Amino acid sequence: MFDKISTIKEQIVDFNSSDSNEIEKFRISMLGKKGSITDLFTQFRNVPAEDKKEFGKQLNLLKKLASSKIEELKSNSGSNKSTQSTIDFSMTAQPTVLGSRHPISIVKEQIIEIFSQIGFTVSEGPEIEDDWHNFTALNFPEEHPARDMQDTFFINKEMALRTHTSSVQVRVMENEEPPIRTISPGRVYRNEAISARAHCIFHQVEGLYIDENVSFSDLKQALLYFAKEMFGEKTKIRLRPSYFPFTEPSAEVDVSCNICNSKGCNVCKYTGYLEILGCGMVDPNVLENCGIDSEKYTGYAFGMGIERIAMLKYGVKDLRLFFENDVRFLKQFDKGI
Ligand code: PHE
Repeated sequence: MFDKISTIKEQIVDFNSSDSNEIEKFRISMLGKKGSITDLFTQFRNVPAEDKKEFGKQLNLLKKLASSKIEELKSNSGSNKSTQSTIDFSMTAQPTVLGSRHPISIVKEQIIEIFSQIGFTVSEGPEIEDDWHNFTALNFPEEHPARDMQDTFFINKEMALRTHTSSVQVRVMENEEPPIRTISPGRVYRNEAISARAHCIFHQVEGLYIDENVSFSDLKQALLYFAKEMFGEKTKIRLRPSYFPFTEPSAEVDVSCNICNSKGCNVCKYTGYLEILGCGMVDPNVLENCGIDSEKYTGYAFGMGIERIAMLKYGVKDLRLFFENDVRFLKQFDKGI
């Protein structure tokens, strides 16, 4: 019996072919129903008890040898291509298409990065806000026409969709002691007609700095630094006197339009400048409303629309594109630009 194993082993070692039919014939002669190796397995019961262990071991090795030899010859002959499927069943059915970051997110991160370099932290708050945080604490007296400046979506008499993220700053002032240096990015809502320059939903980053001896020139310096970091060294800013209930004095800040290089285009309404910011010194009433000693502390605040900044930065002429989620538009930002 052991002789048979040795003979078959030699046959396996000696066998060589690249013809797939011959290899298959060989496989049948060895491992098929009437194959020599299969035959030895059926004869196993006739092996004397004391040899069974050794015989079984050798027989299994023989089977393995035959199988791996056949596999090896098959793969060399290329016959595996015809007998095995070439389909990779582990592949996903559809190629995975990776999305890209939305330009608003990209610009928001950039703004955060720029202000964090001069010590600003990030604070966030609710989008559904009460009257106190969105208006009253910010020095909008009840029934005051200044509330019309920001057409509001009211939920009920008390609650509204926040019209600016200044509401978050009220929350920070109520809960923290100066020095406070924070920016609040987030989504805001206004009941405005949708056009190339305005939308009923948009994004803001508002900033607040409160400490002893904070002055208007600190504000100007911070904003100029921001404009240059965002739009390049050559960027100019211009401040125009303005009015906000929560700041005094107040200003609006324009940056030179880099869509038309300040020559005038329909985005900058042929002025060469684009308004990006409202700002001013925090009104003492606001500080007192939030429990901050206005004799001791002063502060500045500013607020900007992220869409405006993104339009300037990427030369986008219609603000509505940011909300349509047309992949042809969004795909252009997949390198993070
Ligand atoms: N909250 C103002 C707005 O929504 C912007 C602003 C913030 C202006 C801070 C002055 C100071 O338009």
